[in-house]
Amino acid sequence: MRIIRCKDYDDMSRKTANIISAQVILKPNAKLGLATGTTPIGAYKQLIAWYNKGDVDFSEVSTYNLDEYLGLGPDDPQSYRYFMNDTFFNHINIDKAKTHVPDGSNLDAEAACAAYDELMAAAGPLDLQLLGIGRNGHVGFNEPGDSFSKGTHCVELAESTIQANSRLFDSIDDVPRKAYSMGVQNIMSAKTILIAASGADKAQAVYDMIYGPVSPQCTASILQLHADCFVVADEAALSLCK
Ligand code: PGA
Repeated sequence: MRIIRCKDYDDMSRKTANIISAQVILKPNAKLGLATGTTPIGAYKQLIAWYNKGDVDFSEVSTYNLDEYLGLGPDDPQSYRYFMNDTFFNHINIDKAKTHVPDGSNLDAEAACAAYDELMAAAGPLDLQLLGIGRNGHVGFNEPGDSFSKGTHCVELAESTIQANSRLFDSIDDVPRKAYSMGVQNIMSAKTILIAASGADKAQAVYDMIYGPVSPQCTASILQLHADCFVVADEAALSLCK
């Protein structure tokens, strides 16, 4: 794992955007794995700014998002498809047909997950997978558990994740209890992984990811075994890593 130490959220966002834009400049038809959440918003804003200046072109890029809430369709403002359109895709020249998010409106979990895995298998390994990290060490919605997941699957969200994500909903009761998520094997298949983290509330998870045992109790710890993984994190998130 290579650690890129950043001053603060803005610095982390710029460095994350730099790595993504370098990937797209080097390989215009790059396949990117993308993430939702608060962590990547600054990086997406920076990429939009560079796109507007003519510095980066997304016309040939394809994207695969990590996860989606079960039961939320693309028009639901709480869905991750809506988030991606609203935060990023609507502001750049990406072909929406080349952007992929698990289909939360398909309540047949087996079919929805199989369809996403087939899509990913047909695409081949992603060039760059962007990840955030949960306070409990999750990546995507791969919550702490007894084993690492493989392909896309339906997840029961951990209580701590429901609590953390409730800030984005009117009430905690509105937070969906289930989601579809790429599995650990999908994530580990990417050629390069960039995991971004900001804030003191991520410090323990970041420490466990880098220094802890490789264990499904901290899903992100599996990234220690990836051959090309960057941690792009700010001082607060790295405060336990001396
Ligand atoms: P956040 O979420 O970026 O909103 O902190 C990250 C995650 O839970 O994976």
